Amino acid sequence: MYVCICKNVTCHQIRNAVYNGANSLKDVRQELCVGTQCGKCVKDAKQVIKETLVDN
Ligand code: FES
Repeated sequence: MYVCICKNVTCHQIRNAVYNGANSLKDVRQELCVGTQCGKCVKDAKQVIKETLVDN
């Protein structure tokens, strides 16, 4: 499912970034550019990161 429409980023990609060591929105943003356009996805992206870190 797409989290960030502007940058075509899926929750799967965000989860993979966390599995590969990202542990904040800043890290994920550097890797995937998520949330760098309209910003509407930031809340959802943070949620996916948080859930993935808890599951890890
Ligand atoms: Fe992510 Fe617009 S939906 S920046």
